[in-house]
Amino acid sequence: MYYRIIDQDIKVFLSIPKFADELFSLTDKNRNFLRKWLPWLDSIKTKDDTKKFIILQLEKFSKGEALHQSIFYKENIVGVLGFNSIENGVGVIGYWLDKEHENLGIMTKCVKELIKLGFEYLELKKVEIHCATHNKKSQAIPKRLGFKEEKNLKKDAEKLEGVYYDQIIYSLKRDALVF
Ligand SMILES: CC(C)(COP(=O)(O)OP(=O)(O)OC[C@H]1O[C@@H](n2cnc3c(N)ncnc32)[C@H](O)[C@@H]1OP(=O)(O)O)[C@@H](O)C(=O)NCCC(=O)NCCS
Repeated sequence: MYYRIIDQDIKVFLSIPKFADELFSLTDKNRNFLRKWLPWLDSIKTKDDTKKFIILQLEKFSKGEALHQSIFYKENIVGVLGFNSIENGVGVIGYWLDKEHENLGIMTKCVKELIKLGFEYLELKKVEIHCATHNKKSQAIPKRLGFKEEKNLKKDAEKLEGVYYDQIIYSLKRDALVF
């Protein structure tokens, strides 16, 4: 089965239905934390919702439209990352992490490998990360990895807990990759 070793503690697997129970438990545990930053929390109410979501992502993967991966840290799922969309050679990266596993550098390492995978195997020419203007921890990831900030904000792009926020678009072209 498809997986990538990031370091001795971290592995990234293609998300499959078998992960649904564990992934739902993690989502549920982090619901209040994640709701501040992600718009979809209230659409995932049961294990079955997570399973359906994973199946949908696998269908999109088979058509080259998305990639959803689960991050394992010391044998347990601690987050997810992938390409929320792939269109015209541009992959838009999304991610979230268990609150207790923040600040260890896990996501930065995984995003770095995802980018290499996107350029090497998915034939992307550019990757993007779209971050709400107040989401400083998310913005730190593309900044750390040498992304460029696009000039224009994406206005009212995200509705979080009833409030619209602008997004900053960070992008990295294949020929600008330095790692
Ligand atoms: C966005 C999110 C994944 C960032 O988590 P994170 O822990 O800051 O990211 P990383 O795992 O890359 O860790 C980086 C942190 O670990 C530290 N770190 C430790 N070792 C490190 C290493 N080897 N490499 C990089 N960073 C390291 C960094 O200094 C940084 O901490 P700082 O913010 O205090 O400077 C997390 O906050 C989250 O899930 N938020 C909610 C969902 C969300 O916002 N998703 C994105 C929507 S656009």
